Amino acid sequence: MDNKLHRIKAIELQDRVVSADEAASWIKDGMTLGLSGFTRAGDAKAIPYALVRRAETEQFKVNVFTGASLGSDVDKLMAEAGIVHKRLPFQADPAMRRKINSGDMLFVDHHLSQTAEWIRAGVIESIDYAVIEALEITEDGMIIPTTSVGNSSVFVKHAKNVIIEINLSQPQLFKGVHDIYEPEKQGQRSPIPLAHVSDRIGTIGVPVDLEKVRAIVFTDQPDSPSTILQPDDDTEVMAQHLLNFLRSEVASGRLTNQLAPLQSGIGSVANAVLHGLIDSEFEDMEVYSEVLQDAVFDLIDAGKVKFASASSITLSKEKMDQVFGNFEEYRDKILLRPQEITNHPGLIRRLGLISINTALEFDIYGNVNSTHVSGSNMMNGIGGSGDFARNARLSIFVTKSIAKGGIISSIVPFATHVDHTEHDVDIVVTEQGYADLRGLAPRERVPLIIDNCMHPMYRDQMRAYYEEALLRGGQTPHVLEKAFSWHANLTTSGTMLLP
Ligand code: COA
Repeated sequence: MDNKLHRIKAIELQDRVVSADEAASWIKDGMTLGLSGFTRAGDAKAIPYALVRRAETEQFKVNVFTGASLGSDVDKLMAEAGIVHKRLPFQADPAMRRKINSGDMLFVDHHLSQTAEWIRAGVIESIDYAVIEALEITEDGMIIPTTSVGNSSVFVKHAKNVIIEINLSQPQLFKGVHDIYEPEKQGQRSPIPLAHVSDRIGTIGVPVDLEKVRAIVFTDQPDSPSTILQPDDDTEVMAQHLLNFLRSEVASGRLTNQLAPLQSGIGSVANAVLHGLIDSEFEDMEVYSEVLQDAVFDLIDAGKVKFASASSITLSKEKMDQVFGNFEEYRDKILLRPQEITNHPGLIRRLGLISINTALEFDIYGNVNSTHVSGSNMMNGIGGSGDFARNARLSIFVTKSIAKGGIISSIVPFATHVDHTEHDVDIVVTEQGYADLRGLAPRERVPLIIDNCMHPMYRDQMRAYYEEALLRGGQTPHVLEKAFSWHANLTTSGTMLLP
């Protein structure tokens, strides 16, 4: 224990070390928690696990606010224990997804840049306990986060109580890679002084009012690795289409070989497409994203990316061992920031990002659904995709043209839920090709999307729909009674292919 106490450099806090079970016992039914954690990285682990243990003998529910999805099965275990009343702003766990879709749990699907504004303005439930994973607490009272920042700084500032989980297994070399900056209230705010991806604008830790620190617990549970799939034939072809599009932008003089700061969304597809840049002529690239997946470190290793800024690092097991085991090589090329800075609409517009996110489906006019399967069932959430899509220099969406072996077309007559409207979507890419929708009227978009992006097995079916729609006229022609017939057919006959 003495040794561990070196991690608590603010001496007056050293007598606040308690067990996770004791600290968790103070959390009461109906309270709201602000947990650290962003896409499986840097999540609070010990207190949620203790709450799950407590649920074996006691019934209670809490609201759980985080940066984004949690790893280490925290979302899964909390969902299965039935202790979550309301979850916000993002999750990506199958067990939690089932609880949300069965109506047993509430989920507020929210732009990741905006949760901090809601907390600051007092729009949502106030935070009773912030539970923050840390490397250490400094002499001057700063919490040094671990592998993510997420919403930790705003939680700490606005929570009534703070519990700090010092994780002894997280790489200590992370100290110094965080850049914590909190904007003032809206209406009283100065411009955020960030003009380049690598600009450092804040402190290396999260300032905390020591009076509010109720407990410190120790843990040594590592982050759980990401579950992304490795690139496959389809995603490699998609990457080539994307490269061809970027080459045409360079040829037209709108970009150089350095491109522009890149943002890439979560999931296997976005990771694989980014990975495709390794064998390209593009160089000296920068990344301004919310999460750094394996591909970014592959690009750093290949000398292609010179700097990466994000809110978390989420890696596969193999990549985690390599990167965390040799972190000295990476630490001057990385900054981790609060998610309201990584996803800040003004900064995204200022830096002129190239933004690559994944769609579940999109329609013939370019409206994108990233969240709801067949319009009703939540997959993960909008995450940061809306922050980026609306504000990026180039808003690109990628998806395979078919899903589940072809029973689903990812390009449909009308998106069953619209996260990103046709106004926020510039380029759509599938393994079939890409469609550059910029400057095109709705009627110009349709043939391009059908010919360049749709799987051949669904093209004639879509042409028939569109021809019938044209007979009805309109700026954006539709046959409303048939607009969701593909989804209806999937439910009744198990395929979107119409009889
Ligand atoms: N209808 C139903 N299911 C579909 C589908 C569709 N149109 N398109 C894909 N799927 C299924 C896939 O079959 C797969 O199912 P499985 O898990 O049973 O194998 C699953 O959805 C994931 O699809 P996959 O093609 O493997 O993509 P992914 O892992 O890259 O995830 C999203 C895609 C859209 C779910 C994911 O990117 C996401 O949650 N995005 C929203 C948040 C976001 O974009 N954040 C980015 C800001 S950083």
